Amino acid sequence: MQINPKKKLLNARPFLKWVGGKTQLLNELEKRIPDQIREKKTIKKYIEPYVGGGALFFYLKTKYDIKDSYLFDINKELIVAYKTIQMESKALIDKLEEIENKHLEKSEENRKEHYYEVRNKFNRQISNFDYDNYNENWVERTSFLIFLNKTGFNGLFRQNQKCEFNVPFGRYNNPKIYDEKNIIAVSEALRNTEIICGDFTESEKYVEKESFIYFDPPYRPISKTSNFTTYAKNGFQEEDQIRLSELFKKMDKKGAYLMLSNSDPKNEDIDDDFFDELYRGHNIERVPAKRHINCDASKRGEINELIITNYPI
Ligand SMILES: C[S@@+](CC[C@H](N)C(=O)[O-])C[C@H]1O[C@@H](n2cnc3c(N)ncnc32)[C@H](O)[C@@H]1O
Repeated sequence: MQINPKKKLLNARPFLKWVGGKTQLLNELEKRIPDQIREKKTIKKYIEPYVGGGALFFYLKTKYDIKDSYLFDINKELIVAYKTIQMESKALIDKLEEIENKHLEKSEENRKEHYYEVRNKFNRQISNFDYDNYNENWVERTSFLIFLNKTGFNGLFRQNQKCEFNVPFGRYNNPKIYDEKNIIAVSEALRNTEIICGDFTESEKYVEKESFIYFDPPYRPISKTSNFTTYAKNGFQEEDQIRLSELFKKMDKKGAYLMLSNSDPKNEDIDDDFFDELYRGHNIERVPAKRHINCDASKRGEINELIITNYPI
């Protein structure tokens, strides 16, 4: 009897909480998968130039037969974690178990102390850490990243100018630091996947006719006070959004299926046509999305998200 490899992949979900994660938007994104892919249930090549927590990638892996995938992100800590799970999921689970046991047996006050101990260790490693060549230190570092992500305030990933992780301790009663089944499912989902640390433009050379590309870049700020676009050290600027639209056009010419999401600047300023201008001639839709990134609670709630495709829906 043939084993259906997709069966094993059910339930692979993001292993990190990530700012801008698309779990909330999955329904809307799925409705806009190209018909050709939906009918065949197969994706020859899937490319995500800003993978972050990978919500759409993991979701698609449970439903479609994806032959080859290429995941990019500029965040080297994130890429170390993806590659470690891909290569050493068992060793990682052991490390996570160790760190979780150590944490949960402590009192609230001592948990806080433990958090800062791990955070300091994580930051001290930066200067000597070999981010380019896989070695045994990657497992420990990934366990630290997952631990800090699950016990730090709001599950943020934030660095200061020196690239040090500077999120404060978050008070959770019994934080679930890892889910063994999910780590294994993620590791399976990452088979036949190239994981690359770099600028999104590096994805261009992998694109072929009928490749499916999902772009989820850092947002343009939706309000003057919001600074949630500062993912990388120097942030993602307006000129980067323009660079992306140029890449979109090049990939369109190659015959790839392209889907892009971004915040809708019209949420703040109805006359802001920034993306309408950049993607003129393509399919631009505005869909309601819930996002909680406004500091002012009264302004939280429904806002629109843009979904742009180079094929009709
Ligand atoms: C909105 S998040 C992606 C979220 C993802 N879709 C998810 O579901 O979690 C944007 C990502 O772009 C990455 N990024 C920022 N600048 C980049 C660049 N120049 N090239 C590639 N990735 C970049 C950030 O590190 C971040 O992970």
